Amino acid sequence: MTLSGKRILLIIGGGIAAYKCLDLIRRLRERGASVRCVMTAAAREFVTPLSVGALTADHVFTELFDRQDEHDVGHIRLSREADLLVVAPATADLMAKLAGGQANDLASTVLLATDKKVLMAPAMNPKMWAHPATRRNRATLEKDGVSFVGPAKGEMAERNEAGEGRMAEPLEIVAAIEAMLDERPKPLAGRRIIVTSGPTHEPIDPVRYIANRSSGKQGHAIAAALARLGADVRLVSGPVTIADPTGVDTLHVETAREMRDAVEKLLPADAAVMVAAVADWRTENSAGEKIKKVAGEGPPALQMVENPDILAGVGHHRKRPWLVVGFAAETQSVVENAKAKLGKKGADIIVANDVSPEGGVMGGDRNRVRIVSKAGIEEWPEMGKDEVAERLAGLIAERLQTIEV
Ligand SMILES: Cc1cc2nc3c(=O)[nH]c(=O)nc-3n(C[C@H](O)[C@H](O)[C@H](O)COP(=O)(O)O)c2cc1C
Repeated sequence: MTLSGKRILLIIGGGIAAYKCLDLIRRLRERGASVRCVMTAAAREFVTPLSVGALTADHVFTELFDRQDEHDVGHIRLSREADLLVVAPATADLMAKLAGGQANDLASTVLLATDKKVLMAPAMNPKMWAHPATRRNRATLEKDGVSFVGPAKGEMAERNEAGEGRMAEPLEIVAAIEAMLDERPKPLAGRRIIVTSGPTHEPIDPVRYIANRSSGKQGHAIAAALARLGADVRLVSGPVTIADPTGVDTLHVETAREMRDAVEKLLPADAAVMVAAVADWRTENSAGEKIKKVAGEGPPALQMVENPDILAGVGHHRKRPWLVVGFAAETQSVVENAKAKLGKKGADIIVANDVSPEGGVMGGDRNRVRIVSKAGIEEWPEMGKDEVAERLAGLIAERLQTIEV
């Protein structure tokens, strides 16, 4: 019950993703939170107050000028009698209203009247999200202390529309809420940590690339767990479809060389956790034009060259972080290969995981890792990737505590 006794005021905006709020309410309540909802007029076009009220087991607030509601609770109490305000889906309109200080309906008035933290989960068409006005509003809101979760990249509800603008999944929103309400000590406060995550894409031509099955789930979870312990986390992510973790400064790259350059620029740091599944090879020259299939000529021969080894680069860098953690994704001789990597890569810890198809680790939600360091090998039982992340963040905090700066 991670949210036991916490009171969430959920403001539902008018977007198709409003239906996901029904699941979000369930997830919050099963973690012990009480949820009260405000729905905009547009939100009520997508889901009914009846469904929302049935799930919250509470009255649903919709009108600013409702004499009964104002008498019973009132918009000021509504905004203050909560530990956190969550806007999901946060429409372009609601973001614009709060950024501009408008208060012309119950949702916007409650948002302006609150003295509590606010978390927004934007959801909109990619063009709306990319519009300079929305970007301006987001920057203003961030400056004003509003936190964001998502949006992620992916398919839109509209046909043939894809891009950045999908609302974060309910469990990602729950994780962001848990992080914001987490009052545990912050042993990593003041520590700067670089994390890499996801795959890299190595172009063959403008439309084809070499990739791997990494989803970024483990790396992103580690970045989020470190941030929850107070670290200033810089995440360098390869192409993934999951949302950026809350409270983490995320940089997006495509290729191994871009990832290496981004990591180099972020040095110095207290620790580096290299989780990304960086492609070992790339094509020597990616074609400027799409390679054509020519009858009778057969398939093209791809000349491969080695990519930079980012972990070894950091492990042997003149600005080497105090603590360097690498991941070894192996399909055979997992521990032997991890041990060999320790010295070769200049790492303090190698987290070895078996990514053979039977393991289901790549893309899956669970992981079974072994922590290999000079001190020996520690076997962790199989657990969720979030749990692995929590434990690893704790271990990193412990190790860094012994190092004074
Ligand atoms: C079918 C449909 C889907 C929409 N989806 C979104 C959306 O996902 N995100 C968004 O910002 N606006 C979306 N809109 C536009 C909003 O509903 C509109 O801007 C509305 O005024 C928002 O009101 P609210 O911010 O008070 O909820 C959609 C409109 C329609 C008709």
